[in-house]
Amino acid sequence: MNISIIGGGAWGTTLAQALSDNGNKVLIRDINEDFIKKINNEHLHPFFDIKIPESIKATSRLGEAVAFSDIIVLCVPTKAMRKVLTDIAFAITTKKLFVNVSKGIEPDTSKRVSEIVEEVIDKKYIKGYVALSGPSHAEELILRKATALVSASKDEELAKEVQKIFSNEKYLRVYTSDDVIGVETGGAIKNAIAIVSGVANGMGLGENARALLITRGIKEIVSIVVALGGKMETAYGLSGIGDLIVTASSMNSRNFQCGLKIGQGMSVDEATNSIAQSVEGIRAIIAGHEIGIKYKLDLPIIDTAYRVVNNELNAKDALQELLSRSLKEEHYW
Ligand SMILES: NC(=O)c1ccc[n+]([C@@H]2O[C@H](COP(=O)([O-])OP(=O)(O)OC[C@H]3O[C@@H](n4cnc5c(N)ncnc54)[C@H](O)[C@@H]3O)[C@@H](O)[C@H]2O)c1
Repeated sequence: MNISIIGGGAWGTTLAQALSDNGNKVLIRDINEDFIKKINNEHLHPFFDIKIPESIKATSRLGEAVAFSDIIVLCVPTKAMRKVLTDIAFAITTKKLFVNVSKGIEPDTSKRVSEIVEEVIDKKYIKGYVALSGPSHAEELILRKATALVSASKDEELAKEVQKIFSNEKYLRVYTSDDVIGVETGGAIKNAIAIVSGVANGMGLGENARALLITRGIKEIVSIVVALGGKMETAYGLSGIGDLIVTASSMNSRNFQCGLKIGQGMSVDEATNSIAQSVEGIRAIIAGHEIGIKYKLDLPIIDTAYRVVNNELNAKDALQELLSRSLKEEHYW
């Protein structure tokens, strides 16, 4: 089967390898000519310099990638998604299955990628939409280390189709779900908690604090998922707590790294600018805070992080505020 991947960075090219291992022909579209040369001429992953299958090809031409297959895997940072989809809307001539693997919420609108696809692509060209997400560092999957994802769609058959295309018995296992809102929201908001976990680490706090943040953080993710119409159990699955565990405790996570630098004293701008790839968790903090106001949610971690991001509070005072909140019973919801 032919598959088009839009965005050949760390994750897009890693998924290309898994799809190629599963017997598919993959064409990647990227705007970075150096990446394209590396993939086509040297058969190397553009970020990790690891050999990838020679059958994986790359192009800068969006029209060529869109025409190449009926499955369009969206893998650009969420802030670029609307522009990329607008360009796809001009190039598209047949129905496509859109598989979104990016994790984030659109800046300014706080929309999920499924909502952007619906707004930008003519209905007659949408065969369906699947969100594919879960605890997955590209650094591990590129080495074919065991990984699990969730394929979520309102259309059960399409969720199963994507499950089959991406799964293999060697290292990649995909589950299905009907909860697109839950999977997309969990995958985006966990980045907010990952930043806070990094801040705590940067301030010299230990694993006790990390466990505290992951556990109380998932409660906030659940509140947001449910407020937006997703299911609580999705937030407790791979795309919620699973992804939070992997992101909030690993140097492979750019969101964790960004938080770490803030905790060590860098400003938010200095920390985000020091990381080459896009850090989607800052936007997730802002979106989480805004959603909290809209739905009147109790989100102490995200709301405090918002004030740090907004330069109203430093990390040390933020910790003090969180610890001095009134004592209460433990509720998981
Ligand atoms: N890296 C991971 O381990 C991982 C795992 C799961 C999901 N994700 C998600 O996948 C998405 C992409 O992450 P990544 O790690 O591959 O990022 P990346 O920065 O490595 O790659 C993004 C790619 O998108 C391209 N791009 C950027 N802006 C563009 C634009 N305006 N138009 C067209 N192309 C553009 C870039 O050239 C780059 O190659 C993110 O939403 C991320 O959260 C990443």
